[in-house]
Amino acid sequence: DQWVEELTSNIKKLGIPDLPNFPNCYPAFNPVDIYRAHLTEYLAPISGAEINVIYNAIQWTTTLDKGDLILPVPALRLKGKKPDETAKSIVEQFPESPLVKKPELDKTFVKFFFKPEPLAQLLVPFILKKGIEYGFNPLNGLRDVSDPSKGRKKMIVEFSSPNIAKPFHAGHLRSTIIGGFLAHLYTGAGWDVVTMNYLGDWGKQYGLLAVGFQNFGDEDALLQNPIGHLYDVYVKINAIQREEEYKVKRLREEAKELQAKNENVVEKEAQIQDILDNGIDEQARKYFKRMVDGDQEAVNTWKRFRNLSIDKYKQTYARLNIQFDDYSGESQVKEESMQDAAKTLADQKVSEESEGAVVVDLTKHSKKLGKALVKKKDGTSLYLTRDIGAITERDEKYHFDRMIYVVASQQDLHLAQLFKIVEMMGRKDLADRCQHINFGMVLGMSTRKGTARFLDDILRDVGEKMHDVMKTNQAKYEQVEDPGKTSDTLGISAVMVQDMTGKRINNYDFDMDRMCSFEGDTGPYLQYAHARLCSITRKADLDPAELTSANLGLLTEPHAIDLLRSLAQWPDVFQNTLKTLEPVTVLTYLFKMSHALSSSYDHLQVVGSEPELKKARFALYTCARQVLNNGMRLLGLTPVERY
Ligand code: ARG
Repeated sequence: DQWVEELTSNIKKLGIPDLPNFPNCYPAFNPVDIYRAHLTEYLAPISGAEINVIYNAIQWTTTLDKGDLILPVPALRLKGKKPDETAKSIVEQFPESPLVKKPELDKTFVKFFFKPEPLAQLLVPFILKKGIEYGFNPLNGLRDVSDPSKGRKKMIVEFSSPNIAKPFHAGHLRSTIIGGFLAHLYTGAGWDVVTMNYLGDWGKQYGLLAVGFQNFGDEDALLQNPIGHLYDVYVKINAIQREEEYKVKRLREEAKELQAKNENVVEKEAQIQDILDNGIDEQARKYFKRMVDGDQEAVNTWKRFRNLSIDKYKQTYARLNIQFDDYSGESQVKEESMQDAAKTLADQKVSEESEGAVVVDLTKHSKKLGKALVKKKDGTSLYLTRDIGAITERDEKYHFDRMIYVVASQQDLHLAQLFKIVEMMGRKDLADRCQHINFGMVLGMSTRKGTARFLDDILRDVGEKMHDVMKTNQAKYEQVEDPGKTSDTLGISAVMVQDMTGKRINNYDFDMDRMCSFEGDTGPYLQYAHARLCSITRKADLDPAELTSANLGLLTEPHAIDLLRSLAQWPDVFQNTLKTLEPVTVLTYLFKMSHALSSSYDHLQVVGSEPELKKARFALYTCARQVLNNGMRLLGLTPVERY
């Protein structure tokens, strides 16, 4: 297409005859791949290695002092040659190149540094042209790269998955943030992504909720704030249930004492029986049974609670830029799919009866997996049983290539059991397409008004805090169009960035003061970096169309060059993120790039410079803004333009 033609002619001008062609080489999406291919061509005759091996051996670097690309010579797998000697001879023989400087030797490594001017000529127009797409590579998701008509691979990302009428706790918050990020990541990689919320909305506790509503429910309160009201109802009825439980225990002890004294226990027994027959727990069990049996009234009440909750969830998710394609849930799993699975498990002698219940003994495979209960004595299903039914239903409905479950590491065992059981059902093909993405805990998550219960409380609190912070700079504050909305966005960024700052598996402390600070690697800092670039754009007052004619040869200062080199890494960072599946991979890069950016401002002024220089620098900053913007959106942040 036209873009490839433009690119080819641009490369020709730099002295490279043609667009390279290797597997995994995407010159139209990643300018650094042009360098990789170029280096490969030069390295083949002097190293004696096979070209595909060379191409895949050339690596990007995490810090620019290691070069822009680096060749670990042992990766060339040359037999009978000492890597340090080969490295030395490569450095000595490497010919003069239009794109890279003379390589540097570092033990068994060869470091390559890009020549600044060609880099600017190649990269700046590339980023300006690609805009919001720079860094992403939609070819990754093709079933067959050489034949796009075969379509894109399908990915299900199941995440968030809160439990109706229970608090949206820190685990759900993390799942929401990480899942949202993974959905953006795979969309950027060209996969066909389905976002799925698997609500915890089934089980005896929802019978309990309905009983609670009969006792304490209030229509108006329900419509006003469904999640909050249902939670209040749940707390009240739960307290009564526990009280009764405790009472039964006490009565039993008293009966025992009477018995020991050979006294009459009939009255105590009657009291116990009355609670067991008519108490809240039994009412809940009966109600849930009605739900399972499809009793219209019970089901309708249930549906109503569920729908009202979903409406409310949707509003909160919207604040986080998240939408779900599918609100599934435990209640949606068909009895039939669970029975089919149960039959397969029984037929294949995978499951066995144990004291009236059904279990799968997984210890044969691994002690850690233990014995998993798949059917209770009374015949009802469990959390695990519903997941078994759900996985097969999803396979039939979506024919997905892969599915990711974003769930806290507390459920490592649960998901390991699920995947193993699916495999033992004879569906290894299905289990192999699924992956558990886990994460650690958030410690001490509380709001200013007490311990947090709902996501909305947390977001409101952090937003208010950011609003206070914004007000400390009155002059700037007055220029912000909608301070309430902006502080909300900043607060959300603060929470999200803190969450993504470490590896997923690490626990972290929820620290409101730290996350809201502009100093250090925080959400507000990233937003500040973005807003500052936007402010440069406003002040420069240049027509973006003019940028294409900028004389990029003027970008000669070390700060300009380092910034360019950093911007060139973004597509590789994206590719690497597809391997790590860690938001921190993106975040670390964005902070590094922002640091390069903020140290450059004093050296590379735009306003007040000569017109040509002004234009060139403005082009550079426009590219930086684009990369920062693309990276932030990948993480699920909403970049602000001013605050
Ligand atoms: N609702 C569950 C919880 O809050 C999480 C669901 C995870 N997904 C799953 N397929 N089991 O603990």
